Amino acid sequence: MNAREDILLSVEDLRVSFRSEEGKTEVLHGLSYRLPKGKVLAVVGESGCGKTVHALSLLNLLPSGGEIAAGHVYYQGKDVLSLPPQELRRLRGAEIAMIFQDPMTSLNPIRTVGSQITETILAHTDCTKLQARARAMRLLKQVGIENPRKRMDEYPFQFSGGQRQRIMIAMALCLTPGLLIADEPTTALDVTIQAQILKLIKNLQQKNHMSAVFITHNLAIVADIADEVLVLYGGYCVEEARADELFAKPLHPYTQGLLHSLVSLKRKEEHLPAIEGYPPAPGTPKEGCPFAPRCPRAWDKCHDRLPPLFEKNGRRVRCWLQEKDDNSGRN
Ligand SMILES: Nc1ncnc2c1ncn2[C@@H]1O[C@H](COP(=O)(O)OP(=O)(O)O)[C@@H](O)[C@H]1O
Ligand SMILES: [Mg+2]
Repeated sequence: MNAREDILLSVEDLRVSFRSEEGKTEVLHGLSYRLPKGKVLAVVGESGCGKTVHALSLLNLLPSGGEIAAGHVYYQGKDVLSLPPQELRRLRGAEIAMIFQDPMTSLNPIRTVGSQITETILAHTDCTKLQARARAMRLLKQVGIENPRKRMDEYPFQFSGGQRQRIMIAMALCLTPGLLIADEPTTALDVTIQAQILKLIKNLQQKNHMSAVFITHNLAIVADIADEVLVLYGGYCVEEARADELFAKPLHPYTQGLLHSLVSLKRKEEHLPAIEGYPPAPGTPKEGCPFAPRCPRAWDKCHDRLPPLFEKNGRRVRCWLQEKDDNSGRN
């Protein structure tokens, strides 16, 4: 990958667990990656694999009961997880923006959309009120909200779901952040609006040379937006590669399964060959590869020993099959 100085975000051996009456359960088992400036990393995987937990951990925003058991997050070399709360808030407002799945939970229902965007701009810049308002209007226009002057004075409920999500994007981008973390930002929307919003994010990302961590369970949209893809399974990174390489030649049987069901979906085959079985329940004892119970190519070793993340030609794959042609794997 790129030279060290080009790395904007660096995640090192991130481990997250949740506390409950039964004890601690680890749900993210040592995630590491590096995101260069101006690039988009897609984090993909089935529901429950740890995508959201990972996103929240990046800014130390885990809900109560959750804790970062180990690891580091560096943003421009700054150790994010040891920043005092005030600095963390500043970083979150001014440099790192987040968009979540449900825009209704992030917009204040009893305040006009215009006042919410304007306030965010005022809090982080030395604009005048008038300048902030003008900027808010420009942003709404940019995200495809027609007649922004009038709509500034409307409340969130007066907008459709797709429009609210676009407003969230406008808010997230109003300070031209260096990094956008988007957690399934289009999952709740219909396909047409989904495509529009992805295009919008991509345009703004390229125009502002912004980096993004784009989280989705839908591999179909990854090809359009991502430079790099990281596949999560049961809290483990099982594969990471450049998007074009991953689509051309997925190496992990899980990624192969995901891609296979995608191709069938496009061909509208009647019987979708989805990957059989279910992802592991959190806290199931970990011996062997987490995917082994569902893997069509698993053998004894896969059930007994967790494979390391083999690294080769800029690709990373957690699968014992890699050992057959390369013995240079490491954890
Ligand atoms: N607040 C919580 N308390 C306990 N366990 C949680 C909590 N949030 C998430 N988890 C667990 O962490 C794992 C990963 O969840 P999550 O990151 O939300 O998955 P994804 O976003 O990939 O669907 C799941 O096993 C889930 O049950
Ligand atoms: Mg999630």
